[in-house]
Amino acid sequence: MSSDFNQLQIFLDVATEAVMAAGTILQDYWGNLTAIEEKGRPGDLVTEADKAAEAAILKVLHQHVPDHNILAEESGQLGNQESPCLWAIDPLDGTTNYAHQYPVSAVSVGLLVKGVPQVGAIFDPFRQELFRAAKGLGATCNRRPIWVSQTATLEKSLLVTGFAYDRRQTTDNNYAEFCYLTHLTQGVRRGGSAALDLAYVACGRLDGYWERGLSPWDIAAGIVLVEEAGGLVTAYDRSPMDIGTGRILATNGQLHSSLSQALQEVPPLSEWGVGSGE
Ligand code: IPD
Ligand code: CA
Ligand code: CA
Repeated sequence: MSSDFNQLQIFLDVATEAVMAAGTILQDYWGNLTAIEEKGRPGDLVTEADKAAEAAILKVLHQHVPDHNILAEESGQLGNQESPCLWAIDPLDGTTNYAHQYPVSAVSVGLLVKGVPQVGAIFDPFRQELFRAAKGLGATCNRRPIWVSQTATLEKSLLVTGFAYDRRQTTDNNYAEFCYLTHLTQGVRRGGSAALDLAYVACGRLDGYWERGLSPWDIAAGIVLVEEAGGLVTAYDRSPMDIGTGRILATNGQLHSSLSQALQEVPPLSEWGVGSGE
């Protein structure tokens, strides 16, 4: 058992080296972008900072774990597809923020073993905060242990969510959920970085997070952080999380059933007109 923990610790150090290398690149490009492109869907941006940060992460992985599988946001599937170890890489989570010089973005590197997230590192180059976690080894921010909040009711909670790039093409766009939970809580933030949303649930700054339309690289590392900090991560209906669905409900645990229930009873948007009640 302890050798499994040793192995995870080694992989956590690899993830840390990777996010720190990418973080330096994001700091260098900050305010100096010359190439901002749309990837396909309107508003889905990629910059030279995303690409350079991803190259730095791949270099670290090729050096330390050359036989592993890799899913990288900008490069796609790379590496050994036979390996049970899959690294899910988001070199810049919060690209829209970064491109607008709104300083809320992070690097996220997660490791899934046989499909289960086991190791995660998230680095916020603006606040110089390094979030790390590995299964059974706990969660930290800048090497200090972190824990989820103790908030027990929706009325006292501060939540966060996000809206995927396909939001103009689908009615399943999270708008009604956002309105309903805004109504029931002290607030719902939209930070623009799923990785930081999860890291903030893990360290208790936020009480819960839900979102749809996500990719494994957005959330693999953050899932480990929340779970190791004492929180809960599932599908909206509290069934086991399937990272392939792109839907996630992550909370401090105490709020989990009430937030899950609220997400399943969302009234239509038309109910939220001016003066629509308490
Ligand atoms: C996005 C961010 C955002 C979330 C989007 C993601 P990107 O990632 O995590 O918070 O709402 O769904 O795609 O494009 O900035 O790496
Ligand atoms: Ca992302
Ligand atoms: Ca990204």
